[in-house]
Amino acid sequence: MNAFDETPGGMSVSGEVAARLAGARVVVGVCGGIASYKICAVVSALAQNSVETTVAMTPSATRFVTPLTFQALSGRPVFTSQWDQFDQADPQHVRLADGLDAVMVAPCTMNTVARLAAGFADDAVTSIIAAVDRSRTPVLVAPSMNAEMWNQPATRRNLDQLRQDGFQIIEPEEGWQACRRSGPGRLPEPARLIAELAAVVGSDG
Ligand SMILES: Cc1cc2nc3c(=O)[nH]c(=O)nc-3n(C[C@H](O)[C@H](O)[C@H](O)COP(=O)(O)O)c2cc1C
Repeated sequence: MNAFDETPGGMSVSGEVAARLAGARVVVGVCGGIASYKICAVVSALAQNSVETTVAMTPSATRFVTPLTFQALSGRPVFTSQWDQFDQADPQHVRLADGLDAVMVAPCTMNTVARLAAGFADDAVTSIIAAVDRSRTPVLVAPSMNAEMWNQPATRRNLDQLRQDGFQIIEPEEGWQACRRSGPGRLPEPARLIAELAAVVGSDG
């Protein structure tokens, strides 16, 4: 069954997906990839389905989509630095990570794949993830890059490491890429990203 109906006013999720998502608390981490524009539709659909969605962005991501856009779509503050005040009373990323239902990094660049594999925690996205207990809170990573980056030995190695470390990889699709060629590494469409998120948010494990 298709998780989405495309409507002129945007996307509407299926009843099953909506039921799984309603009331969830998620962080969406956005990196500096060309496909970051797709995350506007994802965040809008999540907000419309009663998901408390906090967007965190790498500095590079802010060159592609403005934090203001995500703030308007989510109705929540957007974090662009590990030095942002995550909470007025408790200005720590640990606090935001507490009690989350899921984290999704999309698009996840080759660079951030490498940085997560190495355990870096020096931007808003990686510092929030560093505070998440992945045995309780699923962290989905949706790598997106052109075919050359996707096929780099370092990318293959780093993705293997992420799998071993308990990250859940949303496999990219093959298709048209911004470098005007076709190949593997294309970020899935918003419908699939939301379905993947709903699957882990609504699970009991
Ligand atoms: C126009 C443009 C598009 C880019 N698209 C991607 C991309 O889709 N995937 C990727 O891994 N890197 C892409 N990059 C390179 C990243 O922006 C760069 O590696 C950056 O340092 C990533 O930072 P971040 O991982 O902290 O967001 C792109 C760069 C430019 C200038």
